[in-house]
Order: sequence, then structure tokens, then C-alpha cells
Amino acid sequence: MATILAIESSCDETAASVCRDGRILSNIIATQKVHAQYGGVVPELASRAHMQNIVPVVDTALKEANCSLPEIDAVAFTQAPGLIGALLVGTEFAKSLALSLDKPLIAVHHMQAHVLANLIEQPAPAFPFLCLTVSGGHTQIVLCRSGNDMEILGQTIDDAAGEAFDKTAKLLGLPYPGGPLVDKYAREGKAIYHFPEPRIQGYDFSFSGLKTSILYFLQNAGAANIYKEEFLADEATKKQFIETHLNDICASVQDRIISILLNKLKKAANDTGIKDICIAGGVSANSGLRNGLKTLGEKEGWNTFIPKFEYCTDNAAMIAITAYHKYLDKKFETMEVIPGARGDW
Ligand code: KG4
Ligand code: ZN
Repeated sequence: MATILAIESSCDETAASVCRDGRILSNIIATQKVHAQYGGVVPELASRAHMQNIVPVVDTALKEANCSLPEIDAVAFTQAPGLIGALLVGTEFAKSLALSLDKPLIAVHHMQAHVLANLIEQPAPAFPFLCLTVSGGHTQIVLCRSGNDMEILGQTIDDAAGEAFDKTAKLLGLPYPGGPLVDKYAREGKAIYHFPEPRIQGYDFSFSGLKTSILYFLQNAGAANIYKEEFLADEATKKQFIETHLNDICASVQDRIISILLNKLKKAANDTGIKDICIAGGVSANSGLRNGLKTLGEKEGWNTFIPKFEYCTDNAAMIAITAYHKYLDKKFETMEVIPGARGDW
């Protein structure tokens, strides 16, 4: 029997989870509210908030799992990628705990954990499966051969899908993080505006051109030719255009983001012949993407998997399940391990 305590502190969520033999017993998250007023995560404030939250969050995770510290067989933590000061808090906490308990230490890659979040619930995808990971910082298509063998087939060359949502929201005057709001308004609108699809080879993505075309489109208050910088509308006209057409603008942008994502996923599935297809990351909460994947999956004969919302956004249960696979393969770290902001695969 293996009981693992896992800690996640890569960005603005302080999280801890206990899992026993791959079954999640607790999943506690303290979301840092302090960043909302700044329109984005402030790294220094994130580190401080992790320092304040980590002890009570771990304590609650243990209590909820009805587990005492001596019952823990290994301590896991997010090593990379993320904000370095934020990662340091979780890393040093995990190291100290593992040292004091004299138990193995397991380092987890945050993006691999997003992929393996699909293994938390049943039915789970069978290996090999494909995962489209879409978050605020990453957009990747990952081929997952086993819990310890993953390959990135394609990824964004500029903005992430979540950034595309958040930057669109900002252009529309919506608060951060705007992705969920774009989703909400899109549900009431129709995709009547056309935004161009980037021509990128292979399985890679690009979203920066879309952002520019949205900017011009709004600057021109929806004038027919959205690629030109001319016909600049005055601020009042622009504002009024957004107010009157918000739902349709959101629906059109969302539709394009989703088609960019799903077209590449379809290509990867066709080329590899893999039928078990998953999504992961915060953007997989998007209702249009969830419906789009389901519809495409039915058409293509795929088995599709979407984790529960609490396992899609940053959480420690996904760190715990990933650590469990590492535990089985005895992939342990020494006390010299340090966090990595970039986190190469
Ligand atoms: O994975 P995540 O929680 O954090 C990291 O970036 O690691 O993802 C956050 C991103 C944000 O960009 C947020 O706007 C986006 O996920 N997001 C959504 C929705 N819910 C969250 N984007 C579109 N529609 C949503 N419903
Ligand atoms: Zn994440």
C-alpha cells in the first residue's frame, strides 16, 4: 500500500492532496484572491501567500483523508514549470517533510500532471492516449504512452489558448481572468464574425495573429475588413459596438480558438491512429470546447475523456496521481533537487 502526500504551488493556488494506491482521499486548494486587483498573478505576492497557506492546506488535506503523518509513504511536489518563488515554497516544504519523516521525495512536472489528471476518475483512458492540454500558460498535444513516458507532439509557438481567451477578454473590457466570462457570453451569442485561422505546420499552434485580428476588428467597430488598421472608430463607437455585440463577438472568438485546437488534435489522432483522446488544463472548463470535443469524438469514433472541473484547473490531486506512477517505478529525488521555472520536459 502506498500513501502519498502531494503539494502544488507553481502559480496562485496553494494545494495539497493525499492519495492511496492511486485513489484520491483529499484535494484541498487555497486560491489566492490577492491578484485579482492587479489583472494578473503578481509573483512576489504569490510566494508570500503560499508561505501563509501551505501549513493549513497540508493539515486540512491530511485531516480530510483521515491520515496521520507517519502513515505517509512518500512526499511529492511540483518541481516545474512555474513561478520560481512560488515553486520554492512547495519544494522546500516537501523536502523538509520528507527529511523529517525519512520518506522518499518525488518531483512532479506540472504539465505531465495535467495530462495524468485524466487517470484520477473511472473510466480512465487506456495507454497510449492523446491529451490536449490547454491552460493559461501552455497549449500542448501530448502522446502519453505510460505514466512515466510522455512526448509533446506539438505546442504553441506564441500565446497559450488561455492567454488568447484572457487577452480577448481584456480587449473587450472584461476583468481578469476573462476566459470564463468569454465562455459565458459566447453561450448567448452566435459565431457570425470571421477570424482567420493561422497556417502553422504540424501539430504546433499560434494564437498571436488571432489577438491582432481581434484588436483591429474592435478598433474598426466590426467594419467588414478586419485585417486593416484604417477606418479607426472613435472610442465611444467602439465601446458601443462591443456592448451591443458582446455575445456574438465572444461566440466568434471562442469558435475560432476551439477550431484551431480541435483541428490539430484531429490531425494528431489521425496520424497516430490513437482513439483515446483527453483534454486537460484550465481551458478544458470551456463549455464550447467540451461540446466540440464530444461532437468531434462521436464523429471520429474516439473515446473522449474530460476530467472533473476541480481536476482540470491547478490542483494537487493531479500531482498525487502522477507521483503514484513515479512511486511504482521508484523514481525518487535526492535532497539536492531544486525547482525549475521553465521545466523542460
Ligand atoms: O490550468 P489553469 O487553471 O492555470 C494555469 O494556467 O496553469 O488555467 C487557467 C486558464 C486561464 O487563462 C483562464 O481564463 C482559462 O484557463 N479558463 C477558461 C475557462 N475557465 C478557465 N477559458 C475559457 N473558458 C473557460 N470556461
Ligand atoms: Zn496548470
